[in-house]
Amino acid sequence: MQFPIERFRGQSTPFYYYDLDLLDRTLRAVTEASGYPGFKVHYAMKANANPAVIQRIARAGLGVDAVSGGEVEAALLNGFSAGKIVFAGVGKTDAEIEAALRAGIACFNVESEAEFEVIEDIARRLNVKAPVAFRVNPEIDAHTHHYITTGLAENKFGVSMQMLAPLIDRAISSDVIDFRGLHFHIGSQITDFAPFGLLCDRINAIQDEYESRGIHFATINVGGGLGIDYDDPDAHPVPDFKSYFDIFHRRLRLRPGQELHFELGRAIVAQCGSLITRVIYVKKGVERRFAIVDAGMTDLIRPALYQAHHNMENITAATGAPVLDYDVVGPICESSDVFGKDEHLPEVRRGDLLALRSAGAYGEVMASRYNLRQLPGSLCSD
Ligand code: LLP
Repeated sequence: MQFPIERFRGQSTPFYYYDLDLLDRTLRAVTEASGYPGFKVHYAMKANANPAVIQRIARAGLGVDAVSGGEVEAALLNGFSAGKIVFAGVGKTDAEIEAALRAGIACFNVESEAEFEVIEDIARRLNVKAPVAFRVNPEIDAHTHHYITTGLAENKFGVSMQMLAPLIDRAISSDVIDFRGLHFHIGSQITDFAPFGLLCDRINAIQDEYESRGIHFATINVGGGLGIDYDDPDAHPVPDFKSYFDIFHRRLRLRPGQELHFELGRAIVAQCGSLITRVIYVKKGVERRFAIVDAGMTDLIRPALYQAHHNMENITAATGAPVLDYDVVGPICESSDVFGKDEHLPEVRRGDLLALRSAGAYGEVMASRYNLRQLPGSLCSD
């Protein structure tokens, strides 16, 4: 990736840099690869809610998957129409449900019986019909990090298969519920596509079973989860959307008129973002060499939280500088505040700028003010 170093020099660090051309290329690839009848892509806004980024995504025609009242509001403010918003999450508050019903969003992905009852009550009070899908645990192992695997048997997400049938009966017979269908999500950063195929098989079986009882689903939502190449972002700046959507096209038996919804977050925004940070000190230990940078786990928490690794570049290195090994660490008073150990980087000097790559997803949105630090800024390509 080419960085506009001159623009960076006057910028206070750390900040997120977004390459909007790459975002546009990615959006074109998603749109092209998902062009099958009935396929609709919703952007999972939890991955990145930077206004410049989400406005681009809205303009490309995608819908949005929101998980809080704040995200529903941000979607409406930044160009998504209410009819393109789905609202998921295990803990929607009464106020969030009411605001979403008033706005006229497309669907609530409901995760428990208790939540269903509250939506019914609020819809009745407002005298509107609430569009509802149920999130189901398909019990498929997505072979990803345990913090981001969500499709297995008992966890806080979704309802079990046994509990689904009575809930569907209640939804269908309710005068204030518009029953839409089913929602699934098996995990995130999935790079082995086999679990997506298994999800299709599972959905086919569920559909057959319910159809034999006369129940039809207008929409099937398969969630998100398509992973990206953190190891070599320049080799794979745009994920393999074609293979991903083709699996669902080939393997999932959609019924006539049925819609298939996707909720992709990371795959859309990860590669276009980098965290730009300045080296404050180079510290020589007994055996190790540390590059102490002004970004920390408060700006990008993925390494500390999931042992994730983001590729690093010294983007202001002198030409021909020798490559040395550094532990790249942040300034936070936590020993987990480490971006990488033994990073091979062209010699790092005080004041150099490092780019932490593939940070467009779950980077800026997860920033915190721990240690009373400022939140990171952001800058977009022209
Ligand atoms: N739909 C549902 C119901 C989800 O829970 C998620 C992500 C998505 C869609 C979008 O998944 P994606 O396409 O981005 O994989 N903070 C973690 C990732 C958490 C993912 C949470 N759910 C990370 O930095 O890796």
